[in-house]
Amino acid sequence: MTMTKTDFYASIAARERFVPRGLANTHSIFVTRAEGTRVWDVDGKEYLDFTSGIGVLNTGHRHPHVVRAVREQLDRLMHTCFQVTMYEPYVELAARLCALVGEARKAVLFTTGAEGIENAVKIARAHTKRSAVVAFSGGFHGRTLLALTMTASSPGYRQNFGPFAADVYHVPFPDEYRGWTAGKAIAALEELFSTEVMPEHVAAVVIEPELGEGGFIPAPAAFLQRLRAITEQHGIVFVADEVQSGFGRTGEMFGYQHAGIEPDLVVMAKSLAAGLPLSAVVGKAAIMDAPLPGGLGGTYGGNPLACAAALAVLDVFAAEGLVARAASTGDQIRAALTRLQTRVPRIGDVRGLGAMLAIELVTDPASKAPDADFAQRIIDRARDGGLLLLKCGPHKNVVRLLPPLTASVEEITAGVERLEAAVLDAV
Ligand SMILES: Cc1ncc(COP(=O)(O)O)c(C=O)c1O
Repeated sequence: MTMTKTDFYASIAARERFVPRGLANTHSIFVTRAEGTRVWDVDGKEYLDFTSGIGVLNTGHRHPHVVRAVREQLDRLMHTCFQVTMYEPYVELAARLCALVGEARKAVLFTTGAEGIENAVKIARAHTKRSAVVAFSGGFHGRTLLALTMTASSPGYRQNFGPFAADVYHVPFPDEYRGWTAGKAIAALEELFSTEVMPEHVAAVVIEPELGEGGFIPAPAAFLQRLRAITEQHGIVFVADEVQSGFGRTGEMFGYQHAGIEPDLVVMAKSLAAGLPLSAVVGKAAIMDAPLPGGLGGTYGGNPLACAAALAVLDVFAAEGLVARAASTGDQIRAALTRLQTRVPRIGDVRGLGAMLAIELVTDPASKAPDADFAQRIIDRARDGGLLLLKCGPHKNVVRLLPPLTASVEEITAGVERLEAAVLDAV
């Protein structure tokens, strides 16, 4: 049999020859086609995709409404750069994102989550005229230098890429399973303010309402409420990183809504545009207007195709009731995972909000020692059984589930059965 060009470029040998190892792959498969909750590899094997391209596809792969909107936009306008000449989808999307967050908001668009985070910090610094930034251990905010400095979910992301940005501080994220109560985490923040940096020098506190890469750990509502009160007291800009927890994933449009708080700035990306690169910073107008003209921007930020995709995503959310669907899908998955935990006590913890759920694997439930090998075996066996999953957590011992919110009850049932089979096989 002769090897075609496609066969060659869809081979591990070609990948290793032309793409650096620093970019690691979770699954050694090449995918050629995707639809809804399903993807197909080069050999035609079908998988249920419970990764959603790391939380990007809450509306599923190639939702017909999104595909149509992007095609129609493609026929009209692909790019001008909003800073050069303006176009309607940018402003319409800004208005609709503002309406999701609150009164008197403004929105600026970028391409990636990291870029959104970097710009949120710039805006907070311009507004407060302060420099310090407080982030949380376990947090992941991106791979650009400032976002990477704020990231503390694994030393593997930082390696020897320093020196890192100045004036970034980390405090523990509350993690009840490992003994970090909300009260202890607040005390650690107060300790930081009395030992390392005065609160009046802090521009922003940046937090994921539910840690993503850091292990799918939701911040308790009482913790977020206290943090909101402390930031308000000291004039610190509260930034919610909703890059992974946003767009319905947690059973609310945004994760912070579970705590009933109002952040000053909200960073969005991933599922905002169903696979096209788009991020947003949406925040209180007075803060958003702090940078002077020319201070914000980027060649591709708010590209017309990405804006058209995002407008269609918002239509799909409304038409298909995806926020409520996330809650019911989450209930279905959580019930199955909890049942599985009674059979497999080395599932130390089942946790998460809505459809942002994960299991933490340990060597035994008493010691809670992380079991990364067990997690990897589950991931590998699930893939062999037709289910794509991702790991997370600082110790790589957490298996997270990110199915599209459009997935049917039957697809969720099938996916969970494949996960159960993988766990029982790997234990
Ligand atoms: C919570 C969170 N913030 C920021 C980012 C960075 O986004 P991007 O990879 O688009 O730069 C990620 C990516 O996984 C994330 O999960």
